[in-house]
Parts: sequence; structure tokens; C-alpha cells
Amino acid sequence: MTALDLSSPVAVVGTGTMGQGIAQVALVAGHPVRLYDAAPGQARQAADAIGARLDRLVAKGRIGAAERDAARARLQSVDELTGLAGCSLVVEAVLERLDVKQELFRALEDIVSDDCLLATNTSSLSVTAIGGALRVPGRFVGLHFFNPAPLLPLVEVVSGFATDVTSATRAYETARAWGKTPVACADTPGFIVNRVARPFYAEAFAVYESQGSDPATIDAVLRESGGFRMGAFELTDLIGQDVNESVTHSVWRSFFQDVRFTPSLAQRRLVESGRLGRKTGRGWYDHGEGAERPEPHTAEPAEPPAYVVAEGDLGPASELLALIGEADIEVRAREEDGGTRLVLPGGGQLVLADGQTSVEFLDVVYFDLALDYRTATRIALSHCQDTSARTVAEAVGLFQALGKKVSVIGDVPGMIVARTVARIIDLAHDAVARGVATEDDVDTAMRLGVSYPLGPFAWGRRLGRVWASSLLADLHEREPSGRYAPSLALSRHACATEKREDTP
Ligand SMILES: NC(=O)c1ccc[n+]([C@@H]2O[C@H](COP(=O)([O-])OP(=O)(O)OC[C@H]3O[C@@H](n4cnc5c(N)ncnc54)[C@H](O)[C@@H]3O)[C@@H](O)[C@H]2O)c1
Repeated sequence: MTALDLSSPVAVVGTGTMGQGIAQVALVAGHPVRLYDAAPGQARQAADAIGARLDRLVAKGRIGAAERDAARARLQSVDELTGLAGCSLVVEAVLERLDVKQELFRALEDIVSDDCLLATNTSSLSVTAIGGALRVPGRFVGLHFFNPAPLLPLVEVVSGFATDVTSATRAYETARAWGKTPVACADTPGFIVNRVARPFYAEAFAVYESQGSDPATIDAVLRESGGFRMGAFELTDLIGQDVNESVTHSVWRSFFQDVRFTPSLAQRRLVESGRLGRKTGRGWYDHGEGAERPEPHTAEPAEPPAYVVAEGDLGPASELLALIGEADIEVRAREEDGGTRLVLPGGGQLVLADGQTSVEFLDVVYFDLALDYRTATRIALSHCQDTSARTVAEAVGLFQALGKKVSVIGDVPGMIVARTVARIIDLAHDAVARGVATEDDVDTAMRLGVSYPLGPFAWGRRLGRVWASSLLADLHEREPSGRYAPSLALSRHACATEKREDTP
């Protein structure tokens, strides 16, 4: 099955933010494109806006003037839905309401031929439910572009229950021919990206709500240690708290209030008070004129320890041993059955975040997971009030000697990056086990859709699959709501891995 022929006319219905972007993509790829919008004059305005964007592409040297002129000549706005007769693909990007979309597709089926591919750009409605209104539902598919569509490469190609394979494949190949990176996914709440990404926001908000740390520090740790492009607080201020919360609500509701997707009370308060983020001048942060961004907590300089005793290989943090050696701090190795910790000269211990809390042990400081301990510029440490001042100072001094800024947070199990990454890995495994998408497509979707530094499966392989499931099991023991219970899929992978490792 091949992509739509470039001579085939493509229609875009609903020419707001997304419709304009999608129309531009199809147009620049080479199709004749027709625009229709229910609001009088809107389709014409959209055609003008697309024309202006093509001008800017010419000015930037991305396309030639002749190419722009040809594209403009292929672009047409129509005043009636009947003007879409003869199109080979209709992409709908209208109001996010099931009844509105169903009514539109019913009307469209009377106008286009039975082999016209019909697609919705819905982000939160069920493709199956919209397609339920159709006479020929097999040709109906989700084509979920990301905003801004001309710039972001990812397109989730969503198959509803009734979507036939040829239609899904044709949509997939067409998206690819348009220069996009399509991923195939089943029709489930949030598709891939909006489902698997929920813990990125939820865990940051949970750490804040449990008084573990403040937004600026959590954001800095997610960026500088976790390798995420933005922290959850600044990102949701950019997206809009109302928009981000409504995606969370929709996924949570659609999963029958599954506790793993529970929305945040703190975010609810923000939305209720109109603090929606940059667009209202205030969200988690103050975006008003001249407002200063609060600084993340950064520990004062402390003396590094003269040596550390390494028990075990530190698992995902084993690279630290080389870094400590390079910083001229002696590493004394001690074989200890099952031990994975650094013992400091004062006798205190430094342990990688594992889902337990410092208060459960004698003189322990936890350190958070980093994407790459060599390039991380900040590390979070957590401890309880019983941890000795000497142990805290030695732990801070050690990471500072490695060139890292140190943020000390509260005694939160799983800290910030570790719990976030473990939950993302878990939801990714769960999604694949439930047939939502393949492992590769989940990784691609999360890298391209939300710019994660690594896909969850690649990350999981790097950390060891047992790592995420055991961290979540520890968290679940401490907060037995079910939110942290490792999924069956992740537990199965962990068991299989352990069995392989135990087999001589
Ligand atoms: N904005 C995003 O970031 C984003 C990202 C991915 C998907 N989506 C989805 O794309 C769709 C459109 O979102 P948007 O942000 O572009 O909205 P928008 O409000 O910018 O544009 C919607 C357009 O649809 C028109 N419209 C409404 N009802 C119509 C009808 N019955 N027939 C024809 N036109 C109609 C409106 O006049 C408006 O111009 C939604 O389903 C949304 O969930 C949005």
C-alpha cells in the first residue's frame, strides 16, 4: 500500500491552529489542498495565513519563490462542505467535541466517494467513537499531528476498532511522504504520547505537593540531571495549565479513574484561580514584566571527602566511580554481597534513589538518578532530619568535587528523576503489552513528541528492567494507593531478566 498520489486533492476541515499547520504540510508536500471552516471567512483567512507562512519560508531560503507560487496556486478555500467533493483525503481539525465531529463526518460521507480516506486530528476523543457514526468506518483513521504541525515531525496514526489495515497503512505512508515520522497506535486514551507522558507532570507535582521541593528546584533537577529539555512546571506554564490539566483529566476519566492517572490538586488550584501559565502572565511562575524566575536550591560549597568506599557497582550510577577517581578522590572497593552504595569517611552512606526513604535507615543520603552522570550539571540529594550533618556535608562536597551543583530536597521516596523515569518506563511497558504500539514506536513517539532524551525502552535497557520495577515496588509499599504498583508487563520483564541472569 502506497501513499496518496501527490495529484490527489486533500481537504482540511477546521482551519484553526492545527488545520492550518496540517494544510501547510500537505501543500508543501505537493498536494492540491482545499480548506473548509464553519466560521464564515475563516477558511479564506487561513489560506492567507498559510500564504504568509510560505512567504516566510521563501525569505528563510527553505523553499524557492517558484515553489511557493505553485503551492499557492494549489491552495483553495471553499465556502460549502460540498466543495470538498472529489477529495481523496479529508483531515478534520474542528472543535474537540464528539457530537460535532460525528455530525461533520456523517455530512462528509454524503459528499466524498466511498474510497476517500477520512481522518481526525482529535487528541482526546476515541477514534472508534467518532468512526461509529460512519457508513463506511473502515476508511476512518486518526492522524494526530503535534503543534506546530509544520515543525514537529511526529504523527500518531491511530486505528480504531473498525479501521481497516489498508486505510491505516495508506494514512501512515502518506504521513511519511509528507516528511513526517509516523507511528502506528491503537485507539486508547491519550494514544501513545499523552498516555505515557502523564507521570512526567504528575510526579513533579507530587514531589511539590508532598513538600519535597519547590518548582524551580524540581525543574532544574529534571533538566540538568534528568536530561529533559524543560521541567514539568515551566513546560506546563508554556502549554497552559488548563490545557495540560484537561489532557490529564481526559486520560484519567477515559481509564475509568485509574489511580495511575490521577490529576494534581495543586494544578487544579492553579486552574481554578486563573493562573494558566504564560498566557495569563502567571502559572507556577510569575511571567509578568520584569518578574524574576526563582532560583533552584543550590547547596553552599562543602569539603569533599578524602576517599569513599564503594560497595558493589552502584548499578545505573556505576559511572560515578570513574568520575570520583578522576576528581582525585580515592575509591576503595569493598566486596559486599548485594551492596550498591558509597560509604563516606564519617560512616554515612550514599545510596542511589530506590523508592525507599532515608528515615528508614541509619545515616543515609540518597542521590537522584541522572541521565548521564558525566554530563549532568546538577544532582539532587535527599536525607531525613536524623542524617548526620557530616554525612550530608560529605555527600554535597563529593558531588561538588565532580563539578555538579547540588540541590538538597526532602526525604521523598524515589526522589525526582528516578520516580519519574521509573513510572514512564512502566507505563510504556504497560502500553505495549496492551497492544497500543510497538516498543520502537513508543520510543520514537516519546523522543519526537515530547523531546525525551531517550525513549522509555532504551532508557529501561540502560537502567536494567529490574531497576524500574523494584523502585516502583518500593514506592508502592510506601504509598499503596495503586498509583505506583508496577504493571504486570514490567514485572514480567523484570522476572524474565532475572531468570536469564540467574541461568548459568
Ligand atoms: N492545538 C493543539 O495543540 C492540538 C494538537 C493536536 C491535536 N489537536 C486537535 O485538533 C483539533 C483542532 O484543534 P485546534 O487547536 O486547531 O482548534 P482551533 O480552535 O484553533 O480551530 C478549530 C477550527 O474549527 C472550526 N470549526 C468548529 N466546528 C466546525 C465544524 N463543525 N465544521 C467546520 N469547522 C469547524 C472553528 O471555526 C475553528 O476555526 C481538535 O480536535 C484538537 O483536539 C489540537
